[in-house]
Amino acid sequence: MSRDKVVLAYSGGLDTSVLVRILSDEYGYDVIACHADVGEAKDHEKLRAKARQAGAVACEIVDAKEEFARDFCFPALQANALYQGVYPLSAALSRPLIARHLVASARKHGAAAVAHGATGKGNDQVRFDLAVKGMAPDLKILAPQRERNITRDAAMEYAAKHGIEVPTTKKSPFSIDENLWGRSIEGGVLEDPMQEPPEAAFAWTKSIEDAPAAPAYLKIGFEKGLPVSLNGERLSPANVIIKTGAIAGENGVGRIDLIEDRVVGIKSRETYECPAAVALICARKEIERFTVTGDALRLKALLDQRFAELAYDGFWYSPLRLAIQSFNDSLSQSVSGETVLKLYRGSMRVVGRSAQHPLYNHALSTYGVEDRFDHRAAEGFIKLLGLQLQEFSRQHGGVQ
Ligand code: ARG
Repeated sequence: MSRDKVVLAYSGGLDTSVLVRILSDEYGYDVIACHADVGEAKDHEKLRAKARQAGAVACEIVDAKEEFARDFCFPALQANALYQGVYPLSAALSRPLIARHLVASARKHGAAAVAHGATGKGNDQVRFDLAVKGMAPDLKILAPQRERNITRDAAMEYAAKHGIEVPTTKKSPFSIDENLWGRSIEGGVLEDPMQEPPEAAFAWTKSIEDAPAAPAYLKIGFEKGLPVSLNGERLSPANVIIKTGAIAGENGVGRIDLIEDRVVGIKSRETYECPAAVALICARKEIERFTVTGDALRLKALLDQRFAELAYDGFWYSPLRLAIQSFNDSLSQSVSGETVLKLYRGSMRVVGRSAQHPLYNHALSTYGVEDRFDHRAAEGFIKLLGLQLQEFSRQHGGVQ
């Protein structure tokens, strides 16, 4: 009798390799390993061999870097998306992309289920599960790690027993998740909130001490709200992220240390390096301020925060996220121009901006002789603006 198929989100690490075998031997499925490359720089051939060796009947690897940049990082960028005002959502954005590929692969192979290796206390399980529910409510979702809470030692033992390749290199003391938008570092000494992250935790950003002694400039060009060039060079979505990140990281920009509220109610200490995300958000926000009306910016700030929460909480494929996306797409039409950032030893400052359709009007804002603002109109404006205050005050003898 032929077995049902399951498509597993496969990272190539020990944990998901063990899951291949568990899903096959203990859950009774034919396992298709699926890996979406979102910028982790892994060797695809090695990954394929590992999946096969662990017992997968097939292994699908997709280079999803441009897709990730265009469909996930850029929408988050349009929303200036920072969870709790700080975290650019790097890990959070990749899960709905991976889920999209799991679902596509499940359809292609006629699979009954998808599976992932997320634990029961993290956010990723929520993101995977809700993304699959949002796209393909008929698919079964298997999460053996959540069901069994397999420790690292148990995984090693299982691998040795079942002839699965056990990593020979010493495992990093940290749990790492990385993609174009950023890198998260958890565990080990970082679990002590008072412990300064050791340099060994970082791979993409220089320390303040090691950053170059001269400032660097980034001139980032935007068209209709999206970054299209860096220092005069036109670049694809993935490349504008990669190159911006390299320069920002080199100058010590993008390190984040945050006590974060997980969806499941846990507070955790999270360390990130997101050089591209913080630089691009800073640069884009500046063109937005320059080209979007003040009242729209005020509403957008509220929706930006909601967008970040939706992405963090796993509601990427939801009507609300899509509706906010439409709002952002509409406002983005006027957001074209260039921002100049000055980076120096971990600091980042906007030092210049220009736009195709700036709402900044020198004749209105200047205090010089070119001033065309109607100063006398201000008096009547304030008279009406203050009418309600004045009447309340008259009745109650003023508000103290
Ligand atoms: N706290 C971050 C988030 O929830 C990072 C998660 C990283 N995931 C991982 N499996 N290491 O978005």
